[in-house]
Amino acid sequence: MLTNKAEFNADESDREHIEIKPSVLYIGTPVVLITSLNADGTTNVSPMSSVWALYDRVVMGLTSTSKGRENLLRERQLILNFPSPELWPKVEAIAPTTGRDPVPPHKEKIGYRFEADKFDVAGFTPQAADLVRPLRIAECPIQFEAEVVAAHSPGAEWSSERPEAFSIIEAKVIRVHAHRDIVIPDTNHIDTNRWSPLLYVFRHYFGTGPDLGRTFKAER
Ligand SMILES: Cc1cc2nc3c(=O)[nH]c(=O)nc-3n(C[C@H](O)[C@H](O)[C@H](O)COP(=O)(O)O)c2cc1C
Repeated sequence: MLTNKAEFNADESDREHIEIKPSVLYIGTPVVLITSLNADGTTNVSPMSSVWALYDRVVMGLTSTSKGRENLLRERQLILNFPSPELWPKVEAIAPTTGRDPVPPHKEKIGYRFEADKFDVAGFTPQAADLVRPLRIAECPIQFEAEVVAAHSPGAEWSSERPEAFSIIEAKVIRVHAHRDIVIPDTNHIDTNRWSPLLYVFRHYFGTGPDLGRTFKAER
């Protein structure tokens, strides 16, 4: 049995874990395609995965030079479009793009290009939203319409030597759309046998495996 005795924490007693310095800490979060309104009224698509949800709030991390961040902070509206695993090639088709023109130098150096119409590049179908102006992505089985309610800068000791900072953006979800195929008929429940998120795990795309069990609070 494990205890919290100091001897189990001492370096010489832990032969299973080694110290590493990974370049990213992306343990595994869902891929989200954020749609946001450009100043000219067109819709930009920003792939991202630094996101989590609690109650009706979602919290996102978006880098400072991304077009999506600029649009979100100006328009205060967005859609979070959640792709399923088979859509990963479409996501990857727009991965090396930005809606920012000119392309920021640190992105240009690693092969990013400007794209005004990412729907066209990925082969996504635009779909009007109910309560906000950015367009939804019809192929994504789950879509959240949302409004920005707060934005924060990263906390202390963010090094000025890094290529860019980021914003921590909190949004309130005001409408949820789910494709009828993944909803348990006549309920508000997602059928978890039919829905799987596309996950981003240390810069690789994954789907999820079989259902392992449910928590005591699960309603279905
Ligand atoms: C799967 C995936 C996940 C990503 N996650 C994030 C993220 O969480 N935050 C972020 O700022 N950029 C993330 N990026 C990088 C953005 O997609 C990239 O900055 C892109 O240029 C943003 O587009 P925009 O400038 O048109 O908004 C991710 C990219 C991919 C492909």
